[in-house]
Amino acid sequence: MKKALIVANWKMNKTIAAAEAFADEFLQIYPKNQILENVLICPPVFLFDRIKSLPVDFGAQDCSALSSGEGAYTGEISAKMLKDMGCKYVIIGHSERRKYNHESDDMIKEKIKNALKEGLKVILCIGESMTQREEGSLYNFLWNQVNKALPSNANSDNLIIAYEPIWAIGTGVAATKKQIEEIHKFLKDKFSSFLSIYGGSVTVKNAEDILSIKEISGLLIGGASLDPIEFSKIIKMRG
Ligand code: PGA
Repeated sequence: MKKALIVANWKMNKTIAAAEAFADEFLQIYPKNQILENVLICPPVFLFDRIKSLPVDFGAQDCSALSSGEGAYTGEISAKMLKDMGCKYVIIGHSERRKYNHESDDMIKEKIKNALKEGLKVILCIGESMTQREEGSLYNFLWNQVNKALPSNANSDNLIIAYEPIWAIGTGVAATKKQIEEIHKFLKDKFSSFLSIYGGSVTVKNAEDILSIKEISGLLIGGASLDPIEFSKIIKMRG
């Protein structure tokens, strides 16, 4: 059986010096020749070169919706460019981008199409606010988020769904095992062809418990992935 996918989402963190320090420490735990299958780090794009020596895959935190290739789009980075830099994956539709960059489901679908066109694997983020959960529209909301974003050529080989409840991201309060289990059962039921992973305040304290959920295929980790020791401990939990 494939090992669980462990994804580090560094968000807008680390300088060049900090990334190099991370790499040095990580290499002491996992040397270059010990290739880590299904482990992925998604740093800010300018740091790729600094962590390229690590025995993991790389991904980006976003790609352009405007074109998969090149064009007059100031400030954008395309899927083709990410591929060129050695990226294997791209995170699309993170709730922080939906909120701060006003990304719509339509825009997210365009990004996914561009990523797939260039052969990148997509990690599609979905997740509800506490209000949506309390109002009882949870399942409907999540179903819509997935459905509106999925292009027809998305399949189990090129797309993974990451369930990240907004209220659990960066708050120190992860969803409970029961809540995570319920949502992943729902995703398995409705979108059976896609693997799903969980994100939202995953740490060394709760990672093992969450990974033990049958329907879970991995973890998306923000804060705890910034520390090489903590991140390595979580990787080790896959056995
Ligand atoms: P967190 O972030 O682990 O810091 O909660 C997860 C994410 O936003 O991907």
